[in-house]
Amino acid sequence: MALHRTALIGGIAALGLAIGVIAGTQAQQPTPKPWTPGGTEMMPQDMLMHYPCHDDEMPCFNLPAPAIQKVTFKEPLNGNKERGKQIATNIRWGNCIACHSLPEGQAGGSVGPDLSQRGAFPVDLQEMYQRIWDVRIYSPDAHMPIYGTNKVLTDQDIRDVMAYVLSGK
Ligand code: HEC
Repeated sequence: MALHRTALIGGIAALGLAIGVIAGTQAQQPTPKPWTPGGTEMMPQDMLMHYPCHDDEMPCFNLPAPAIQKVTFKEPLNGNKERGKQIATNIRWGNCIACHSLPEGQAGGSVGPDLSQRGAFPVDLQEMYQRIWDVRIYSPDAHMPIYGTNKVLTDQDIRDVMAYVLSGK
């Protein structure tokens, strides 16, 4: 009987300890820091869901494409060229340079047209904004990321990137 009681008390104590440990572990979990675009840390896995999937061997390949978003550009452009350059040339952010050559001697990929002197040619701001937000309005199969609809770039990010692209003469 005495043995049973000891075992019972021991069991309760062990259970209490276990709950304490679990509660303690939960209390010590650090709140995840918000991810900073353009930094050195990898983008968290759940945010990668915003990117389209190009691998036909992965389940994500069969997810339906997000609905096409038609957006209206509001003048003035009000973009920060320096911030735009950071976004456009950073592999962990806009990474426009993967497919485009960009102003200020930023030689890039050739999948997309050369944008290094884009500012020297006539531009329709509404069209350029829409192309970066969601190019599918113009070319449904263009090999360019859907930056706005997929929440990769914000309205201000796109304005900054446009200011940078248009600075190239
Ligand atoms: C994966 C490759 C790829 C990436 C990355 C990419 N683009 Fe493009 N881009 C293209 C292609 C391809 C076209 C031509 C689309 C078409 O056929 O309509 C294009 C077209 C454009 C055009 C229209 C051309 C013009 O002269 O006005 C602009 C502007 C543009 N891209 C800006 C950007 C910006 C800004 C970024 C980064 C935020 C970017 N692109 C990232 C491939 C890319």
